Amino acid sequence: MITKRLNAAAQEDLEAAVALLRAGGIVAIPTETVYGLAADATNSRAVAAVFAAKQRPADHPLIVHIADLDRMSDWAVAIPAEAHMLASAFWPGPLTLLLHKAPGVTPLVTGGLETIGLRVPRQPLLLRLLRSSGLALAAPSANPYKQLSPTSAAQVLAKLDGRIDAVLDGGECDIGLESTIVDLTGEEIRVLRSGPITAAQISAVLNKPVMTPEEHRVAVPGNIAQHYQPATPLHLVSRNEMLAKMKSATGSEAFVVLADFPVASIQDQSAVVIMPETKSAFARLLYKTLHELDHRNLRNIWFELPPQSEDWLDVNDRLRRASS
Ligand code: TXA
Ligand code: MG
Repeated sequence: MITKRLNAAAQEDLEAAVALLRAGGIVAIPTETVYGLAADATNSRAVAAVFAAKQRPADHPLIVHIADLDRMSDWAVAIPAEAHMLASAFWPGPLTLLLHKAPGVTPLVTGGLETIGLRVPRQPLLLRLLRSSGLALAAPSANPYKQLSPTSAAQVLAKLDGRIDAVLDGGECDIGLESTIVDLTGEEIRVLRSGPITAAQISAVLNKPVMTPEEHRVAVPGNIAQHYQPATPLHLVSRNEMLAKMKSATGSEAFVVLADFPVASIQDQSAVVIMPETKSAFARLLYKTLHELDHRNLRNIWFELPPQSEDWLDVNDRLRRASS
C-alpha cells in the first residue's frame, strides 16, 4: 500500500482525505493532542483495519471524534447533565467523555464494552473536515501498540508508512499529550487518564468531587504499566542521580534535564536536552524529544523527574509508563 501525503491546509487534500475515509480507508489525522489514525466510525471494516494497522488488541476501545456536541446523542444514550456541562466548558478540546453507547454503535469501536468515548477535537483543520463531511471518526493515537504517540506527520510515517492509506499533515500538535478521559457512566465521576484538562478543572465546572483512581480495571490500554514507550530504555532520575550519571557517562547516553538544571555541571555530552520551564511547552516537546532521541541508537535516556504538582500529572503519568 502506498501512503498518500496530504496537506490539511489545502482544500483539495482535505477533500481527498474525506473521499478516502468515505471509501473505508484509514487516514492519520492531526488533532490538538496527538495524531490519530482515523476510520469512518460507522464502517466496521474500516474500524477493523485501524486495529490491524496498529496491531492493537480488539478489546481496547477507540475514541469517536465528532463535529459538535449536538452529535453526542448519535452515539450515546442516557446522557447525564454533567456531559453537557463538560462539553459546553471544554469542547472543542482535549477532553474525552465516557458515556453509555447507543444501541446501533458497532461493538468493534467500543471493544465490546457498553460504553463509548466521545470528543470534539479543537484542531481547526480537522474540525473543518468533521463539520463539512458529517463524518464521525473512530481514532486511536497513530502509533503501533504500546509505542510513543506521534505529534507530527513525519513521526506517523516513521512507523506506519505503507500500512495506512494517507496521512493528513496539519503541522505539529499544539498540546502534544493525549486527552483527559473522564468516566460519566458510574456513580462517581472518575478521571481514567490524566491529561491537559485537570480533575480540578472538571470538578470546578461540575461543582462536585472528581476521583482520580491510581489503579482501575477499566480497559484503557494507556492504563497498562508499559505504554507510550520509546525503544531506548528510559529512566526517570532525581537531579543528584542525573549529575552522577553525567559524570560517569561514556558518550552513548542521552540526558534530558529541566530548565533550571545547573548549566555549569553539563559536561561535554553528545545528547543533552534542556526542557522548557512551563508545563504546556514541556508537554508539547515531550514525545518529539523522545522520538528524536530514540532515532540516535543511544544506550539509555536519563530523564530528570519533572515537578510533581497536579498540573504536571499527565506528564508524570506518561513518563512513568514510558520508563516502566
Ligand atoms: O487525545 C487523544 O485522546 C487521542 C487523539 C487522537 O484523540 N487519542 C488517543 O486514543 O489517545 P487512544 O486509543 O490511543 O487512547 C484512548 C484511550 C484508550 O486507553 C482507550 O482504551 C480509552 O481511551 N477508551 C476509549 N473508549 C473507551 C471506553 N468505552 N471505555 C474505556 N476506555 C475507553
Ligand atoms: Mg494511544
